[in-house]
This record gives sequence, C-alpha cells and structure tokens, in this order.
Amino acid sequence: MEIKTFGVIGAGQMGNGIAQVAAASGLDVIMNDVKQEFVDKGLKTIGGILARNVEKGKMTVPEKDALLARIKGSISLKDMAAADFVVEAATEKQDIKFQIFRDLDQICRPGAILATNTSSIPIGRIAAQTRRPDKVIGMHFMNPVPVMKLVEIIPGLPTSEATLNTTWALAEKFGKTPAKANDYPGFIANRILLPMLNEAVYCLYHGVGTREDIDTVMKLGMNHPMGPLALADLIGLDTCLAIMETLYDGFKDSKYRPCPLLRKYVEAGWLGRKTGRGFFEYK
Ligand code: CAA
Repeated sequence: MEIKTFGVIGAGQMGNGIAQVAAASGLDVIMNDVKQEFVDKGLKTIGGILARNVEKGKMTVPEKDALLARIKGSISLKDMAAADFVVEAATEKQDIKFQIFRDLDQICRPGAILATNTSSIPIGRIAAQTRRPDKVIGMHFMNPVPVMKLVEIIPGLPTSEATLNTTWALAEKFGKTPAKANDYPGFIANRILLPMLNEAVYCLYHGVGTREDIDTVMKLGMNHPMGPLALADLIGLDTCLAIMETLYDGFKDSKYRPCPLLRKYVEAGWLGRKTGRGFFEYK
C-alpha cells in the first residue's frame, strides 16, 4: 500500500516530532489538534528544531522550507479524510483516544490505516472502537522523536499482516528501526522502563537519595544518557502515572503500584518540563 498523505492527531511533543520525521521522509503531513494555538505551537517547535539543523549545517534553508511546506496544520478531524495513514498522538487518556478512533473510523476512507502512539493502552481495546480493527495498530515513537531510533510496533489480536507490514515499512521510511511487541500492558518499552522510573521516585519518596544523587547514580553508574527523574520530567509525570496505572490495572500485580509521590506531583500540576516544574525546575 502506497502512503502519500500522513495524518497526525496531536501537535504536542510526540505529535510534532512524528509530523517532522514524516515530512522529512517526503510525505505530505496533516497535523491536527483541537485548538489553533496548539497547532501553531507544534509548528513553531518544528521550525525551531529545523532552524538549529540549518545552523549546524545539517540541512539547507530551501530544504527546511520545503519540509515545513509539507506540513499542513488542521483543527478539524474531517481533514483526515485525505490521509492514507493516521497516527493518533493525543493525550494518554483512554476515553479521549476511544472517541478519536470512533471519529476517524467515520471520516477516513475504508483502506486507511489508523495507528496509535499510545504508550500503554491495549491496541485491541482501541481497535474494538472501529469497524476496521484489522487496520488498527500501535506505532509507538520515543521522545524526542527526531532523535530516538526506535519505533515499537504493536499489532493487536485483530490487526492484519498487511497492516503490520505497511506500518513496519513506514517506520523504516522514517529512518527508524522498528521492533515488534505483542499487545500486553506497557508492551516492551514501558513495561521495562516505567517500573524503573517509578522505583527512582520511590527512592526519592523514601529518602534514599536526593534527586541529584538518584540521577547521578543512574547516569554515571549505568551510563544512562539522563537520570530517571530527569527522564520522567521529559516524558511528563502525568504520562508516567497513566502508564503505571495501566500496568497496575492490566496485571493486578502490586509491583506496578504508582509511587504516591508521583501522584502528588501530578495532582499539584508539576508535570515535568512541559509545565516548567517536575522533579527538577525548567526555565
Ligand atoms: N528534538 C529534536 N532534537 C533534539 C531534542 C528534541 N527535543 N533534544 C535533543 N535533540 C538533539 C540535539 O539537537 C542534538 O543534536 P546534534 O547531535 O545534531 O547536535 C542531539 O539531540 C543531542 O542532544 P544534546 O547534545 O542537547 O543532549 P544529549 O546528548 O544529552 O541528548 C537526549 C539528549 C537525546 C534527550 C538524551 O539525553 C537521551 O537519549 N535521553 C534519553 C531519552 C529517552 O530515554 N527517551 C525515551 C523516553 S520513553 C518514551 O518516549 C516512550 C514513552 O511512551 C514514555
């Protein structure tokens, strides 16, 4: 199946990154969000990253302009009627994703593939919201999307082989390396990563170490590029909490219980980099 027009739902940190890599691979991109200001912010982020790439000599100004011209902003889901392949990267809330998939199923042409960038909600559950469950799949990008090589691809029980193959080929076209995970809570990436981040929050909660010492141990002792608390701030503490809840609900195993301190930060609106404050402070 040939993909020419690629839709992204959500212009936030994952959505705008996905739009950027799709446009960089030569596709026409429609980037949708609920408000024009969110779309504008996403376009501005992409413009800023590309401008830095020009400064670094990684691309020319005409290449930057051509890439940006391939991304069209949208605040109407109906614009997705033009898309051959859509990735949903909206907020990690099941009800919101369900509604988006029900709407996309009505709007998109019957052959279009509907993928979700969910970090942990079961793909089969999302697919069941549509009349095309064979064309629904998980396509999980990592943050920051333009930098990270991995795309985790998650076929649900009803996902067809053709949908899996098309999605796999698309990830490769984006210059990414796909890895397949089966549809169990958290898939592979977050099943392993999030309990580690949650444990780092427990270390802070129990006073085992300061935020700086916890991150230093993992950075210098394990060669991680950033410490777990800084990484949680990058992902977003609300997203981290949502993933831990999904793991806990899905397995009913107490080892996945979210740390009360993580919940406390989320309730205070300290969500990490995006709000300027999480375990660390950001300008
Ligand atoms: N967008 C685009 N490019 C970015 C970027 C962003 N947000 N952040 C950094 N970069 C680029 C920089 O411009 C720089 O590019 P050049 O090499 O061309 O100069 C390069 O990445 C390296 O950046 P820095 O030198 O500023 O800093 P660094 O070497 O510390 O790398 C990092 C930054 C890539 C974020 C690195 O710290 C890292 O890999 N951290 C771990 C990230 C990670 O684990 N991500 C997965 C999160 S889990 C997830 O996303 C899934 C989920 O569902 C929760």
